Amino acid sequence: MASSNVYAVVGVLAIMAISGAVMAQDVDPIKVNNCESKSKMTWHCINEVFASIFKTGTVSDECCHQLVNLGQICHEALVKRTLQNPLFKNNDTSVIFAKSAQIWNKCSLVDVSPSPSP
Ligand SMILES: *[C@@H]1O[C@H](CO)[C@@H](O)[C@H](O)[C@H]1NC(C)=O
Repeated sequence: MASSNVYAVVGVLAIMAISGAVMAQDVDPIKVNNCESKSKMTWHCINEVFASIFKTGTVSDECCHQLVNLGQICHEALVKRTLQNPLFKNNDTSVIFAKSAQIWNKCSLVDVSPSPSP
């Protein structure tokens, strides 16, 4: 009697742990898409994009290329995650999403136009 109860508890915990892990992967596009890979964007460009969305400023062509290379899914996922930070709780999410979309659009245009070689 006692041992079958133990098995039931262990079984439930195992199922919870597995489904928790699977769900966490499903809902975290940042991990799934490897968005934080250091090879995709330099700190300089991450800061430039970040500042232009949450503060003011523009994104240079070089950083636009890196952003487009990172991909729209990662761009949006990282903006969403930043908004979850208590530091940005005062920011209007619709304003931030509009700005992030605007920067994405600008950068995808920059990326198709041939860049002049220095
Ligand atoms: C986000 O919130 C900060 C602090 O409240 C503010 O200084 C900044 O201008 C806001 N950014 C945007 C894009 O609204």
